[in-house]
Amino acid sequence: MQFFLDSANLDEIKKAWDMGVIAGLTTNPSLVAKEGKDFHELLKTVTGIIDGPISAEVIALDYEGMLREARDLARIHPNIVVKIPMTEEGLKTVKTLSSENIKTNVTLIFSANQALLAARAGAAYVSPFLGRLDDIGENGLNLVADLCEIFQVHNIATKVIAASIRNPVHVTEAAKLGADYATVPFSVLRQLFRHPLTDAGIDKFLADWKTLKS
Ligand code: E4P
Repeated sequence: MQFFLDSANLDEIKKAWDMGVIAGLTTNPSLVAKEGKDFHELLKTVTGIIDGPISAEVIALDYEGMLREARDLARIHPNIVVKIPMTEEGLKTVKTLSSENIKTNVTLIFSANQALLAARAGAAYVSPFLGRLDDIGENGLNLVADLCEIFQVHNIATKVIAASIRNPVHVTEAAKLGADYATVPFSVLRQLFRHPLTDAGIDKFLADWKTLKS
């Protein structure tokens, strides 16, 4: 499993990229709105930092509107992957974009059937939102398990991005289940680095080193 950062914050994006652990980026309208910047300008800047897939979402909900936005986004840089919501109009848009070799990431996936449909429409990626399923008392990891199994059984090339990740346990479990990617907020990425025994071990090594007589 590889990592994407789930953020639209340039400071976080630079830091995460420099750590060498992320393969790309995902954004969504809520994350972009928090930054208060022009969307296309932000994406242009991001393409200068991240050398990998960068998911950018359309706002329109109708086929023509989504198509127009998607083509504009795709023109920004070859690494742009257009995020399309999981709707009937969305799948029709995915089919057309796929025929134009524009990669799509179908977002807001909450069932295995939705993911299967998105894959059949030609999506390069699907994003099951596991945290939001947990929030309503369901088990988001079960969805990731179902998707990975179905895609494997049917030899489907569409990549699974475990999204709406809330904690390190989500990351470990998604990796065990075979998700191709986990897209993680910067706060979770930081949590992945830390372990109290690592901190204690460093303190102990440094304390012992100080007792060395030169
Ligand atoms: C994924 O592409 C989404 O941007 C994201 O993971 C949503 O996460 P949230 O449910 O924490 O908003």
